[in-house]
Amino acid sequence: MNGHILSLDLGSSTAGVVLFDKKGRVVKQLQKEYDKYYPQPGWIEVDPDEIWFSMRAAIEELMNASGITAANIAGIGISNQRETTVIWDKTNGQPIYNAIAWQDRRSSKICDDFRYQGFSELIREKTGLLLDAYFSASKISWILDHVPGARAKAEQGSLAFGTIDSWLIWKLTGQQVHVTDITNASRTMLFNIHTLDWDADLLKLFNIPHKLLPGTCSNSEIIAYTAPAILGAPVPIAGVAGDQHAALFGQMCLEPGMVKNTYGSGCFALMNTGDQPVLSQHHLLTTVAWKIGDKVTYALEGSVFGGSSVFRWMRDGLGVIEATAEVEALAQTEEDNGGVMFVPALAGLGAPYWDAYARGMIIGITRGTSVGHIARAALEGVALGLADALEAMEKDSGRKIGEIRVDGTSATYPFFMQLQTDLLQYPVTRPAVMPSSALGAAYLAGLATGFWDWQTVKKMYEPGESFSPRQDMEFSNRLRSRWKKAIARVQNWDL
Ligand code: G3P
Repeated sequence: MNGHILSLDLGSSTAGVVLFDKKGRVVKQLQKEYDKYYPQPGWIEVDPDEIWFSMRAAIEELMNASGITAANIAGIGISNQRETTVIWDKTNGQPIYNAIAWQDRRSSKICDDFRYQGFSELIREKTGLLLDAYFSASKISWILDHVPGARAKAEQGSLAFGTIDSWLIWKLTGQQVHVTDITNASRTMLFNIHTLDWDADLLKLFNIPHKLLPGTCSNSEIIAYTAPAILGAPVPIAGVAGDQHAALFGQMCLEPGMVKNTYGSGCFALMNTGDQPVLSQHHLLTTVAWKIGDKVTYALEGSVFGGSSVFRWMRDGLGVIEATAEVEALAQTEEDNGGVMFVPALAGLGAPYWDAYARGMIIGITRGTSVGHIARAALEGVALGLADALEAMEKDSGRKIGEIRVDGTSATYPFFMQLQTDLLQYPVTRPAVMPSSALGAAYLAGLATGFWDWQTVKKMYEPGESFSPRQDMEFSNRLRSRWKKAIARVQNWDL
């Protein structure tokens, strides 16, 4: 009996698989961490084959451990890190270059040139995005300009561009289907969020041939079937969305004004704005939340680049912790930050500052500073960055946020969540079932295959623990005003 949905959740550091049962409960989940490469300061690459092998290994292990076969799976949902850019050769299926990760800053110069030429507003109006190297367009241009022979092949139509969802679908279908969903498309800076199609003006501007691009699909439909060799028999791929959009759906933020934040490598806060795109006046992004049937829902997004990547750096770069979760315990060895501020701009600053040349900073160190102070300042830095984005969201939407739903690994850290609510001065609530991005992708696949209906899905959200402020406004104001001083010091550092 096909009583399960399988979600593939390809995040910035891990390939995760989650098996859900009919009640939306997690039956089994596992993750495989894969490597990232840093060939130059500000550059971040991943090997597309390694991503695929990690995902394949995770699927196999999950199927063996849970004893399920393709016959037990009604559909597959995919949620993925967005913007990360892969270009492969369709004739042999091989990537022509490593995937350029979303945090990679190498194409900032391309964006600067367009900014000086006055294209920012046109891009913002068409795509809802701010001109930045975060998005795929400048990464594609960079690859076409730097990999020998790539541009000629792209013009002949033998290359394919995809975000990670596209790459996974290509592999899952035995290299047959080249497609992306419209949430991932809306993060390329080549997709018009009003016409819901690739934009000819933008393709011309970035000098990208149309032939390179995937076809587009909605978020909840049978897109393709897996090649029989993958799971033993074909299974429909029926739900695909960028991880942040999937999490908004998984957290059941279905009404305008509802907000979620996912603590992943960065922090990504999205507010449902209903069927109308709201163009930001405060440096947020406008994005497609999802398209189901003919109905399109939009969202405002605050993409904050400092998140658990900072805790990973403390583990792998500084070597002061052995596991990222230890940052909580280390932070609690001190009563406060001892005057230390940590701006986690390791990949520049996203919302609401958008500074590709900002870099991380730890300031306020004295002879009495301990590693515990730095750990505490790291947690505060992530929480403060998110608070700035949420403040911008209140201004843009004209709504006071009364609560945010949170998810992602760091949302499981109780000390951190208490700090977050103390800074925001409103409750933060995590759901009973996580990961929300995998759950959202499962809901989308379940709706498309008839595994669930809308009513069932809507009733599935169950709140988990909720945190409310224990500190007063003065605590929040004090930290936030010091943070503003620190932020001002990191800007344009690498220019
Ligand atoms: O835009 C980048 C985002 O999709 C990455 O998410 O959770 O992998 O950090 P995450």
